[in-house]
Amino acid sequence: MNSFSTFSFLLLLVLPLLASCHEKQVYIAYFGEHNGERALHEIEENHHSYLLSVIENDEEAKSSLIYSYKHSINGFAALLTPHQASKLSEMEEVVSVYKSEPRKYSLHTTRSWEFSGLEESVAPNSLKKDDLLLKAKYGKNVIIGVLDSGIWPESKSFSDEGIGPIPKSWKGICQSGDAFNSSNCNEKIIGARYYIKGYEQYYGPLNRTLDYRSPRDKDGHGTHTSSTAGGKNVPNVSAIGGFASGTASGGAPLARLAIYKVCWAIPKVGKEDGNTCFDEDMLAALDDAIADGVDVISISIGTKEPQPFDQDSIAIGALHAMKKNIVVSCSAGNSGPTPSTLSNTAPWIITVGASSVDRTFLSPVVLGNGKKYMGQTVTPYKLKKKMYPLVYAEEVINSNVTKDLAGQCLPGSLSPEKAKGKIVICLRGNGTRVGKGGEVKRAGGIGYILGNSKANGAELAADAHLLPATAVDYKSAVQILNYIKSTKAPMAYIVPGKTVLHTKPAPYMASFTSRGPSAVAPDILKPDITAPGLNILAAWSGGSSPTKLDIDNRVVEYNIISGTSMSCPHVGGAVALLKAIHPTWSSAAIRSALITSAGLQNNVGEQITDASGKPADPFQFGGGHFRPSKAADPGLVYDASYQDYLLFLCASGVEDLDKSFKCPKKSHSPRDLNYPSLAIPSLNGTVTVSRRLTNVGVPKSVYFASAKPPLGFSIEISPSILSFKHVGSKRTFTITVKAQSDMMGSIPRDQYVFGSYSWNDGIHNVRSPIAVKLA
Ligand SMILES: *[C@@H]1O[C@H](CO)[C@@H](O)[C@H](O)[C@H]1NC(C)=O
Ligand SMILES: *[C@@H]1O[C@H](CO)[C@@H](O)[C@H](O)[C@H]1NC(C)=O
Ligand SMILES: *[C@@H]1O[C@H](CO)[C@@H](O)[C@H](O)[C@H]1NC(C)=O
Ligand SMILES: *[C@@H]1O[C@H](CO)[C@@H](O)[C@H](O)[C@H]1NC(C)=O
Ligand SMILES: *[C@@H]1O[C@H](CO)[C@@H](O)[C@H](O)[C@H]1NC(C)=O
Ligand SMILES: *[C@@H]1O[C@H](CO)[C@@H](O)[C@H](O)[C@H]1NC(C)=O
Repeated sequence: MNSFSTFSFLLLLVLPLLASCHEKQVYIAYFGEHNGERALHEIEENHHSYLLSVIENDEEAKSSLIYSYKHSINGFAALLTPHQASKLSEMEEVVSVYKSEPRKYSLHTTRSWEFSGLEESVAPNSLKKDDLLLKAKYGKNVIIGVLDSGIWPESKSFSDEGIGPIPKSWKGICQSGDAFNSSNCNEKIIGARYYIKGYEQYYGPLNRTLDYRSPRDKDGHGTHTSSTAGGKNVPNVSAIGGFASGTASGGAPLARLAIYKVCWAIPKVGKEDGNTCFDEDMLAALDDAIADGVDVISISIGTKEPQPFDQDSIAIGALHAMKKNIVVSCSAGNSGPTPSTLSNTAPWIITVGASSVDRTFLSPVVLGNGKKYMGQTVTPYKLKKKMYPLVYAEEVINSNVTKDLAGQCLPGSLSPEKAKGKIVICLRGNGTRVGKGGEVKRAGGIGYILGNSKANGAELAADAHLLPATAVDYKSAVQILNYIKSTKAPMAYIVPGKTVLHTKPAPYMASFTSRGPSAVAPDILKPDITAPGLNILAAWSGGSSPTKLDIDNRVVEYNIISGTSMSCPHVGGAVALLKAIHPTWSSAAIRSALITSAGLQNNVGEQITDASGKPADPFQFGGGHFRPSKAADPGLVYDASYQDYLLFLCASGVEDLDKSFKCPKKSHSPRDLNYPSLAIPSLNGTVTVSRRLTNVGVPKSVYFASAKPPLGFSIEISPSILSFKHVGSKRTFTITVKAQSDMMGSIPRDQYVFGSYSWNDGIHNVRSPIAVKLA
C-alpha cells in the first residue's frame, strides 16, 4: 500500500523524462566470453565496429559508447534507439541485448519506515567461534569487493592498524574524487572506485549536494555493509542513545576491502526512499573487481523485476566472477512475505535471506489504568518519570486533513494547539515511521507511540526517533486506542528503552525477507541460506543522519538498520573466512558447504519460524541459518564447474555464451545442475535426478543416506551408502521423487511441499532441502 503509492508518485516524476528527451536509451550488448587474449584497444575497436554496423555515422557511434567491458566480460553499453538495439540483437555473436531501466535496481535495506531496530554485526552463535577466526587468520589475506553506495573511510571500523601489507595479488586502484583521494585508502580499504556514467546518462550531472562524485558514501548503506563483511573489531561502540553497546566487528575483521560505488542518490527523492544503481555501472564495476583480484564480492542490491540471467548485469558479472573462483554473495530482496519475490537467484550466486538476532530494545507503554504494553525503541530521548495526557492523532489534527489519513501523523497534519504537551499515538501506513514522530515533535507533542497497522502485525520496528517514543504491535495499538476512547482523561508514560539480550525465540525469519520460488529459475531452490538482517548495528556515514530524513540533523558513527542488505555481507564475511581456510575451493564448493551445514533450529530448540510464529520453510531460509564454523568442515560438497553452469544455461535456453563450448543436442533439465538442494516445480508422476558428491573431509569415509520426504511424496536414494577412498574422491547417486498414488487426493496441487535428504558419516550431516509441487 504504502510502497505502492510512493512508487506511483515516483513514476510520475520519471515518465516525462523518458518520453521527452530519451528516445535513445542505454542498452547493454553482451557477447559472453572474450575470444582469446586480445589487446584492450582491439576489444574497443571490435565493440566500435559492432556499433558502426547499426549506427552508420562514425562520430555518432563513438559518442554513443558508454562503457566497453574489456577484462572478463565481453560487451558494451551504448546509447541506442530500440531499432538499433534490435538490429544488434540479431547478430550471431551477440548473446543478449537488454535495456538499462532507471530505478530498476536499488539497495536492499528496508526503507526506514518499514523495518529497523536492534543490533549486531556478527551472528551471536556462529561467527564468534574463535577457532574459525584463528584458522582463517581473521581473513587477513582475503579481499572482499563490495558493490554499494561507497564508504566513509574515517570510520574506526576501517582502521588498518596491525593488518600488514596489502596482498601482492592486488591490482586495483584508489580513485580520487569529491572529498576522497588516495590518502583515504589504506591497508584495510585497499581499493575504491566509482561508476556513474549510466546514472549521469539518465539523470544528467550528479547534484553534488546529494552525493559525492567519488567513492565516498553519503548514504550510510555502503559503509554499513562493508563494515559488516570486513570491518575491524572496534570495542565499546553503540547506536545513538547507547543502544546495542559492545564490540562491532565484521565477519572477517582483518580482511581487505575493495569498494565499488555503483548506487547513487536519486534527484528530487528523499534519501530515505533509497537510491538507484544502473545495470551498465554495476557491470563495469564487476568487470573491474574481477580484474582487480578480489576473492569475494558482496552485493546488497536487487530488483523487483528480475530478468533472465543473460539480461541481468549482476548475474552476468557473477558468472564471470565464478569462473575465476570468486564467490558472490547477494541479498534475496525485501519483498516478502509475498511468494516468488526473490532477486539474485542465479545458481552461481549465494542468495541470502534475512532473520533476527537474539536482541531487542524494550520500551513499554504504561497507561493511566495501570496496564502495560511492550514496545521497542532505540530513541535516545527519555520522558521525565510521570504520567502525561495521551491522545490519538485523529483528535489533534488540523481541520483540512482527510479522514482516511487522520491517524497517520503526516507532515503538517497535527495542530500545535491541540497536540502540545501530549503523548500522541499514530498508526503505521502512509509516511515514514520516524517522520510521523517528527510531526508530533513539530506540533509540540512530548512523546510518540507508533502503532502497527493490522498488516504490520507483531513485527516491531525499533527506530532512532526524534523524541521520546516507542513502537507497539497491532494488538496493543488497538487496546491503547480502546483505552483512549473509553476514558475521560487518558494518561500514559513511555518507559525509556533498554537493550535486552538472549531474547527467545531467535532467530526467526524477518517478514520482509523475499520468498521463493525463483520466478526466473524455479528448478533451483532459492534462497540458499539465511543470516542476520533484522536490526543490525554497523558503521555509518558521517554524511548522513541515522534515519536519512531531511528533518534529522544527527550524525552517528554506528547505526542500526534492517534488510537482506545486512544479511548478505554477513555471508560475505563468512565466505572470506572459508576462502582463507580453503583457498582452492570453488565458489560452488563454498556455497554447498554453507547450505548443507546450515542450522534449522532456533534458540529454544524448535524449527526456525516466520515472524508470526509459524514454522518457516526453505523458500524463506534455503538450507537454514548459516553456521560458518560447521561450513569450514562440511565433509562432502556438491561441486560445479563453469561448464556445469554453461550446461544449465543451455537447458534454460541460453546458448552461445562461450564460443568454445557447444550446447549438447540431447536436452538437459536445469535441475540436473549439481546443486546442493532440489526444486521440482511441476512433478508429474516420478522425477529422478543425479547428483555428484566430492569428499573434502576424512580420507576413508562411509556415508549413509536418509530422507524426510515432503508430505505425499516418497524419496529413494540410490545407492544409499557411499564410500570415499580419499579426499577428492567423487561419487554419484540418484534421487527419485515420486508422488504417492494413495495420497494423490490429499496433495495440494498448487502448493509446494518441503522435505530434505542427508548424507551422514557419524561426524558430518550433509543436508539438502527439497521443494516439490505437482504438475
Ligand atoms: C588528500 O586530501 C587531504 C585533505 O584534503 C589532503 O590533506 C591530502 O594531502 C590529500 N592527499 C593526497 C595524496 O593528495
Ligand atoms: C541539488 O539538491 C539540493 C538539495 O535537494 C537542491 O536544493 C538543489 O536545488 C539541487 N540542485 C540542482 C541544480 O538541482
Ligand atoms: C566506552 O565509551 C563511553 C562513552 O564514549 C565511555 O564513557 C566509557 O568509558 C568507554 N568504556 C570503555 C570500557 O572504554
Ligand atoms: C492544513 O492546515 C494547516 C494549518 O491550518 C497548514 O499548515 C497545512 O499546510 C494545511 N495542509 C494542507 C494539505 O493544506
Ligand atoms: C495511503 O494514502 C492513500 C491516499 O490517501 C490511501 O488511499 C491509502 O489507503 C493510504 N494507506 C494507508 C495504509 O493508510
Ligand atoms: C503427465 O504425464 C502423462 C504421461 O506422460 C501425460 O499424459 C499427462 O498429460 C501429464 N500431466 C501433466 C499435468 O503434465
